[in-house]
Amino acid sequence: MKKRTRVTHPPQVRVPQDNRPLVAPIYQSVKFTFDDVAATLGQFKGERDGFYYSRVSNPTLRQLELTLAELQGRDGCLLTGSGVAAISMPLLALLRGGDHVVHFAELYGPTRALIGRLLHRYGVNSTMLSIDDLDGLERVLASTPTRLVVFESPTNPVLKVADLERLTSLARRHGALTLLDNTLAGLHNHGEFDVDLYVHSLTKYASGHGDVMGGAIIGRADLVAALRDDVSILGPTLDPHAAYLVQRGLKTYFVRWDAQCANALRVAQHLATHPRVSRVRYPGLPGDPGHALARRQMQGFGTIVTFDLADGLEAGNRFAEALQLFAIAASLGSTESLVVPPALEQPRGMTAEQRAWSDIGPGTVRLSIGLEDIDDLIADLDAALARPG
Ligand SMILES: Cc1ncc(COP(=O)(O)O)c(C=O)c1O
Repeated sequence: MKKRTRVTHPPQVRVPQDNRPLVAPIYQSVKFTFDDVAATLGQFKGERDGFYYSRVSNPTLRQLELTLAELQGRDGCLLTGSGVAAISMPLLALLRGGDHVVHFAELYGPTRALIGRLLHRYGVNSTMLSIDDLDGLERVLASTPTRLVVFESPTNPVLKVADLERLTSLARRHGALTLLDNTLAGLHNHGEFDVDLYVHSLTKYASGHGDVMGGAIIGRADLVAALRDDVSILGPTLDPHAAYLVQRGLKTYFVRWDAQCANALRVAQHLATHPRVSRVRYPGLPGDPGHALARRQMQGFGTIVTFDLADGLEAGNRFAEALQLFAIAASLGSTESLVVPPALEQPRGMTAEQRAWSDIGPGTVRLSIGLEDIDDLIADLDAALARPG
């Protein structure tokens, strides 16, 4: 073989069958080949195992899919390049013009925009409610045939806890599918509820280090398999290297989750005693409106603490700027602590009633609690709160 050919056809290194790497290799290959056409066709038709093109499937992604499905207590999983893609793909694949969707004012902003704005262009109708109003949900489901109910628990940023038992049984009774964005609850929570599809931003707790984006759609294998064909045409797949990084992050998932939840509880308890703080929302606090439900539904109360500064928006912005350890940044669930100041938290494109449902006030600050020493975090919060508002 001439050198010009060799660089395109490098030598194959085969690992013997009885000699395995402890960490699975990254299959950073777009294409997979068989020796003959019959085998290739067999793989196409699903008559045999194997891989052909990484937009459709890839062994590195497959390992992550199997891990995440097991964590969530289901047997089907499909990976996407971001959390938002994991939300939009099932909506595009499941909905048709004329279908009706119920969603909530407390949802992540892009999810609301996708349902209320983008899908409207394709003739999908929607009703927005508050996640507190399950009586309203029952009325809507009884009066309007509904294909899908899209919800979150706990919600972002105010951490309202949805009654999963009631919500899912209402949807089931009225023939609607449920899609739960389970990102804030973590990958191990809510598997015992009758949810059809879970979606996660893997950008958050799964990868855990703020250096990779990804998303997952998890559900019963038959439902996920039915989505897979449509999703592979839409083409939002995760890159194998990103899948490897998420798989790597998962090794420390439970250790990080436990430590960050413990830090978050301490922060919430501390803020609740501060005179400048008018309200703290953290489901782990016994006085929180979501505490009883969260105790029943979740293992660990999460790592987000949201509170209101009594003196409002400008004071909240200055507080965020005064923090030294908490960066002003989006996202959550990584090892470092972050703050979202009120100016960046205000809901946009909502009616006055919907804004009231969202429960975001002029002084609402969201903290994402990391793995730092708790004494350093509390000292930083105290110093920023000690600055005049
Ligand atoms: C609840 C929730 N869902 C989905 C997303 C979107 O995830 P990604 O940024 O990976 O697209 C986010 C991001 O902040 C989120 O908070």
